[in-house]
Amino acid sequence: METKIFKIDPLNINRDIIRRASEIIQNRGLVAFPTETVYGLGANALDPKAVTKVFEAKKRPFDDPIILHISTVEDLYKLVEDVPPEAIRIINRFWPGPLTMILKKTDLVPDIVTTGFNTVAIRMPSNPVARELIKACGVPIAAPSANLFGRPSPTKAHHVLEDLSGRIDCIIDGGDTEIGVESTVIEFTSGPVKVLRPGGIDIEDINLIVRGIEMVSESEDIKKSPGWYPQHYSPQANVTIVNNSVNQVEDVLEKAKSFVSKGDRVGIMAKQEHENHYKNFVCKIIGPEKDLRTCAARLFSLLREFDQEKVDIIIAEGISEEGIGLAVMNRLRKAAGPEIASSDLNDQISPEKKISEVKIVDDQNLDDQIVEERTFDDQLFDDQFDADQTADNRLKDFDNQ
Ligand code: TXA
Ligand code: MG
Repeated sequence: METKIFKIDPLNINRDIIRRASEIIQNRGLVAFPTETVYGLGANALDPKAVTKVFEAKKRPFDDPIILHISTVEDLYKLVEDVPPEAIRIINRFWPGPLTMILKKTDLVPDIVTTGFNTVAIRMPSNPVARELIKACGVPIAAPSANLFGRPSPTKAHHVLEDLSGRIDCIIDGGDTEIGVESTVIEFTSGPVKVLRPGGIDIEDINLIVRGIEMVSESEDIKKSPGWYPQHYSPQANVTIVNNSVNQVEDVLEKAKSFVSKGDRVGIMAKQEHENHYKNFVCKIIGPEKDLRTCAARLFSLLREFDQEKVDIIIAEGISEEGIGLAVMNRLRKAAGPEIASSDLNDQISPEKKISEVKIVDDQNLDDQIVEERTFDDQLFDDQFDADQTADNRLKDFDNQ
């Protein structure tokens, strides 16, 4: 399959491009599009076969549920059973924007989207291209980040092309994404409101609207938020983090020298303030120490740039965990993988290992092979297709509600 690229100016949106992209989605195709956080890989969320293609194209395990993207609050009420008062306050404050809510789903949401969970993740993006696309499609768009599973999320159209060229129908290139890390995910289903993933909206700001929110710890989120694979957002190089401290530069240099002595090519991801200390290494600047928003915007792109430089190891300077810094550090720790120590870097789980259970379907025949080659829970799949609510019926239901 040839992946088409449509360039679009978010400040002067070409309707014809939006129409063509929406037709691809309506015809069961896959379209990567910019959101304010990262690029998403969109499909018609009400069509289980289209959603299956998203999993296949990304090589995403079939037990990792997908976020639905909507353009109006009315759409939310068709997709979830109940919207509690705290959720309404959150919506009024943060939507449209980088905040995803997990609520109990209605039958309209196919099981493949939620991988069998009775909850669904929903967000209303603020990026104008994303909003126009969702509106034009007339259905909610199921969209995970548009990267291959395990790789850093894409913040530029060419990152999507790097990972998914030939595997998806089209990419709408709307320039660099503004925030650079994914949405904050919060769950409203039972007990206190829980943060499953830090992201574009600061936890401190959510706390001003809803008191007593709980953070799901990074080790616990592997059960709660099924983006639970131990290593994620990974470049090809190994990643190790040096904590934010007064000795940070000395610690980085010591580590760097030890890797160099073993023959490794070392890359350093540094704060702007420390740039001059690392002249003998491949050094890339994440941003000024105080400007955490810039650090977030550059993170994933830098991880990919280090791969272009063919470094073996990336030594990343830890930054403050305030505000969006928490999301940056969360992604860096996931890129580094579990229990990283410089002595046992080779024991990290490789992306190949993680996705070994996911069968890859030949792109050319994707549509024909989906039913035979499926690798997720067969019963779930059969229930889905036997259900009298076909994709067409769901669409009618969606319009009529
Ligand atoms: O900013 C974003 O959220 C981007 C853009 C494209 O919107 N999307 C994104 O999607 O990051 P993805 O699939 O890469 O991450 C979705 C996260 C995963 O960790 C997934 O496990 C979690 O949301 N999630 C989705 N549905 C869930 C559910 N019902 N319960 C718990 N976690 C859920
Ligand atoms: Mg992702």
